[in-house]
Amino acid sequence: MSSAPTILAFAGSTRTHSLNKKLIAVAGAGARAAGGMVELIDLRDFPLPLYDGDLEAAEGLPPNAVKLKKLFESHRGLLISTPEYNGSVPGVLKNAIDWVSRSPDGQPSLASFTGKVAALVSAALGPVGGVRAQTHLRQILGTINVILLPNQWRVPVATLASFDEAGNLRDATAHKMAQDVGAALTRFLQRLSD
Ligand code: FNR
Repeated sequence: MSSAPTILAFAGSTRTHSLNKKLIAVAGAGARAAGGMVELIDLRDFPLPLYDGDLEAAEGLPPNAVKLKKLFESHRGLLISTPEYNGSVPGVLKNAIDWVSRSPDGQPSLASFTGKVAALVSAALGPVGGVRAQTHLRQILGTINVILLPNQWRVPVATLASFDEAGNLRDATAHKMAQDVGAALTRFLQRLSD
């Protein structure tokens, strides 16, 4: 029997009351319930400067970029909940991806991404629930050799009231759909290792 697939889960938001932090916990629970070994991280714990080629040339990769690279490399799946900022991905998420796509010798390095399998969810205030950010994130990750699952879920018109005190989506169907995205990622990775 194959070992449990490893999944790195995170939201593309750093703020304390992030709705996407709540949603990634739901999707991550679905991945875990299906048998995945999920490591849920908070990008706030890995603060990074804005990518700057001069900074990279002078100082190399920031220590938190090195830590993130190791985390990406040690997991087979990526489960991401992205906010939508002005119809696209937030800078904090793109900046993290950009740093992780570099190597300590100042060269591009896609080893942290190549062959990983990703699934996406999103929560956003607007009526389309972050689908435009998901579309852009799919394009970005696909460009750096990540395999994207078609499964996705989004929570439109999202507010803190969309979740109960325990972190569950109040809409039971939406809650299950978000969990199902995580479960689908686990199952896909299980099939890959069969
Ligand atoms: C937003 N928000 C937003 N919402 C949306 O549905 N479509 C959008 O294009 C935008 N654009 C946008 C830009 C900026 C700069 C901010 C700060 C916010 C609102 C956004 O969905 C809301 O703040 C979410 O709660 C952000 O996600 P987290 O931080 O709660 O995970």
